[in-house]
Amino acid sequence: MDKIHIPTDAIRIISTSSKGDQSKWRVGNKWVKQNTRGYEGQAEELATLVLSCSTLQEKKYVKYYPCEIILPDGELSRGCYSEDFRGKLQEVTLERLFEANFTSTNPILNDTSLSTTEKFEQIMEQVQNFTGLNVREEITRLLAFDALILNEDRHTNNILFLYNPLDKVWQLAPIFDNGLSLLSDEKDYTPGKPLTILKRKVKAKPFNSSFSKQLALYRGTAFIDKAKLLHKLETSTIDFGRAEQVLRSQLNDPNLSRLFFEGSEIND
Ligand SMILES: Nc1ncnc2c1ncn2[C@@H]1O[C@H](COP(=O)(O)OP(=O)(O)OP(=O)(O)O)[C@@H](O)[C@H]1O
Ligand SMILES: [Mg+2]
Repeated sequence: MDKIHIPTDAIRIISTSSKGDQSKWRVGNKWVKQNTRGYEGQAEELATLVLSCSTLQEKKYVKYYPCEIILPDGELSRGCYSEDFRGKLQEVTLERLFEANFTSTNPILNDTSLSTTEKFEQIMEQVQNFTGLNVREEITRLLAFDALILNEDRHTNNILFLYNPLDKVWQLAPIFDNGLSLLSDEKDYTPGKPLTILKRKVKAKPFNSSFSKQLALYRGTAFIDKAKLLHKLETSTIDFGRAEQVLRSQLNDPNLSRLFFEGSEIND
């Protein structure tokens, strides 16, 4: 496993999420995140493994790697890191995009008279107005992926756009920040409790707290090669801990079966 030394002068970024106290640092080209509530790093790695068995191109998702973090005071801890995906592009989260246009996602997302589909459609319409992008298919696929990994942290700052000021072109950023998933928050999902009970407690974001409601937005075809995924799980040398158990139980959920196709060949 990679060891990453956090230099004394590294900028420590405090997370802004609902549960956020996950410490992170940028060290050179690497963005490092420390486990705080449980096994977020293992969940990130496993989410990466799932995406590597999907039809998504590699550039469409951020790869996370396990690491041992050596803090400036010498203390050791665990986490994960990813390579910088932004480069010279400007990043604008979904929420920031709305703010930059003098509005917010709240009036839509908090409007109880709107259905999940209506909320989704209204947000997507605005995104298209602001950026020219139609990302409906990609976002619904992301929500389907979130339903598979039980991601409870897809808030409006975890959907990101990249802007190139030179040619004024927008693009959707790669999928990132999947660590609060697969019941990684051991403070909320106590180790040893039955998975079926814990799984029912997890709430989705951002269009509906129900994973199945968000999953229903996805009308696309199967995009995960289940045979390849199972093969990778069998042959992986990484210990994913409970994250793997949760994923395996999700793979058997009939409500998710339309996300999987049975690959005819295994190519690593
Ligand atoms: N690989 C990367 N390349 C470029 N920027 C990154 C990368 N990883 C993280 N960042 C930056 O750090 C921010 C926070 O990262 P991330 O969402 O993974 O952390 P987090 O602590 O889980 O955040 P939160 O809990 O607030 O959602 C991102 O919005 C982005 O600005
Ligand atoms: Mg985040």
